Amino acid sequence: MISVNDLKKRYGNIHALKGVTLDIDDKVTSIIGRNGAGKTTFIRILSTQLKPTSGSVKINDLDINKDVQKIRKIILSIPQEAQPVGIMTPLEHLELYLLARGYSLSDARKEGRYALEELEMRDFENVPCDELSGGMKRKVFVAMALASRVEIVFLDEPTTGLDPLSRMEVWNSIRKLDSNIILTTHYMEEASELSDKVVVFSEGKVVSRGTVDELLEPFKDKVRVEKTDGEEYDVKIGKLSIKYVPKHMAQEYLSRGYDVKNITLDDLFISRGITLES
Ligand SMILES: Nc1ncnc2c1ncn2[C@@H]1O[C@H](COP(=O)(O)OP(=O)(O)OP(=O)(O)O)[C@@H](O)[C@H]1O
Ligand SMILES: [Mg+2]
Repeated sequence: MISVNDLKKRYGNIHALKGVTLDIDDKVTSIIGRNGAGKTTFIRILSTQLKPTSGSVKINDLDINKDVQKIRKIILSIPQEAQPVGIMTPLEHLELYLLARGYSLSDARKEGRYALEELEMRDFENVPCDELSGGMKRKVFVAMALASRVEIVFLDEPTTGLDPLSRMEVWNSIRKLDSNIILTTHYMEEASELSDKVVVFSEGKVVSRGTVDELLEPFKDKVRVEKTDGEEYDVKIGKLSIKYVPKHMAQEYLSRGYDVKNITLDDLFISRGITLES
């Protein structure tokens, strides 16, 4: 579906992408990484909004440098922090978007209503977006993807800033898309919930990729124990001493005042002494 070869992007002196080579062919792929890892740059290049400094990207055998218009017909990219226009309603957003994609007004209305129905938003279709919750606002964009039936949807941090319940609501709407999805996120739970494959970016490079289970294989049958200024640790983050120990030893560490945590994708970062900000 998408084939990326030695992709580089430089902004002045900043090397945002330092040679990314990656094949993406799963239904949902999540890209995770710290602030500044290059996730947005990567998504913007793949969705033809930004030119790479060098390297190649093929999307369904179309070249991002040569076939821009053809690619734009089959993708939709929802930027980080995208917000709908406050005075417009969800239905108006959908109609306008579908008209821009070449639909007739009657088809735009029909497909727009269908998408809003699928996402359980019909009750809100005529409410100005200003009056919608944060989750509903994001769902307006998911509805655009659903209505336009594009082949590939790029979502840059689709749920950042939402409360946990709204986040789940947006996840449910994303699951209704038939399109292949590439999303970026700081939320490890989001990556675990939604994706078939996870790609980890660090400082402009892919440092690992696999299913959630594959990525967590090194932590199999372990727990994370942590304590402020604890005497034992594998890594320290600030004053927090963190250690990975076999599950059967959890009780012992508990009795010595350590907190015991289950392993999540966060541990990919914590084990290297870093945390992901959101
Ligand atoms: N338009 C720009 N001009 C100059 N530098 C930029 C520009 N856009 C991004 N950068 C820099 O490129 C690097 C990668 O940024 P990018 O936005 O791709 O990271 P990100 O992984 O999406 O981060 P975040 O998680 O904070 O959204 C950062 O060092 C950033 O400061
Ligand atoms: Mg970003």
